[in-house]
Amino acid sequence: MRLIYPGPAGAGPPDLAGLYAYPDPAAAGRPWVRASMIESADGAAAVDGLSGGLGGPADREIFGLLRALAGVILVGAGTARAEAYRPARVAARWAALRAGRPGTPPIAVLSGRLDLDPAGPLLAEAPDGARTIVITAESAPAARRAEVARHADVIIGGEHEVSAAAAVSALASRGYREILAEGGPHLLGQLAAASLIDELCVTISPVLAGGAAGRIIQGAAPVPGGPGPAGPGRLTLAHVLADGDYLLCRYARAGS
Ligand SMILES: NC(=O)c1ccc[n+]([C@@H]2O[C@H](COP(=O)([O-])OP(=O)(O)OC[C@H]3O[C@@H](n4cnc5c(N)ncnc54)[C@H](OP(=O)(O)O)[C@@H]3O)[C@@H](O)[C@H]2O)c1
Repeated sequence: MRLIYPGPAGAGPPDLAGLYAYPDPAAAGRPWVRASMIESADGAAAVDGLSGGLGGPADREIFGLLRALAGVILVGAGTARAEAYRPARVAARWAALRAGRPGTPPIAVLSGRLDLDPAGPLLAEAPDGARTIVITAESAPAARRAEVARHADVIIGGEHEVSAAAAVSALASRGYREILAEGGPHLLGQLAAASLIDELCVTISPVLAGGAAGRIIQGAAPVPGGPGPAGPGRLTLAHVLADGDYLLCRYARAGS
């Protein structure tokens, strides 16, 4: 992997953990939401309904690093189901990044219907100290809620629905300041519409997907204020890594 922006590239391998370090949460004064996604060169978020067909070794390396750095991993139930989510595992080479914290970050799943397998690995096999969190609404089916609560920590984030802001603030109120949002596109769409995405880490995969696959951020509501020079949709490029034909870009919200 080579750092190609900002340049000039140093002689040795890039300091990946330094490049992706979160800003000091105390200085930020609020939780920091980092969205992490991969897309094809023509903008598709999935191939045959999964993101795996887009990935490569460098992307998997950064995916693991971002998990090691995170306080909590926030994901929509659609992605948890499609991608068969399991509890996170942190590779030995990144274990030092967890000093003073549980060995792995918990996964927090946002779901209204609670169509989650209570006996499946995501809920039933999470390690102590990183139990899976399920964020849902008061109106979720009561029987499913009771079943899910046997294995996971259930957070009620609203009466009939959970807004993206309520989900983020529920995690922040439990001490999670470094929030890694791994999608999917509809969850990210809500976060973007609420101006809650501080950072976007996106891998551009050397693939033409074509077809009808959606984008990495989708939803009915556009980013408020649009992408104008000072609008909340405006990003600044923090760095670009290259690995073979893959580009790994980190953007921060302008002014953040
Ligand atoms: N390219 C990438 O990096 C990447 C990353 C992630 C996912 N993906 C792909 O994206 C696809 C899935 O995308 P998606 O947009 O449908 O999934 P998503 O955003 O992960 O999930 C949508 C689901 O999340 C729950 N949800 C979202 N917002 C909610 C809210 N405010 N309150 C309560 N529940 C909420 C709902 O679950 P319930 O139905 O349980 O109520 C909703 O059906 C898959 O093909 C996956 O492979 C790609």
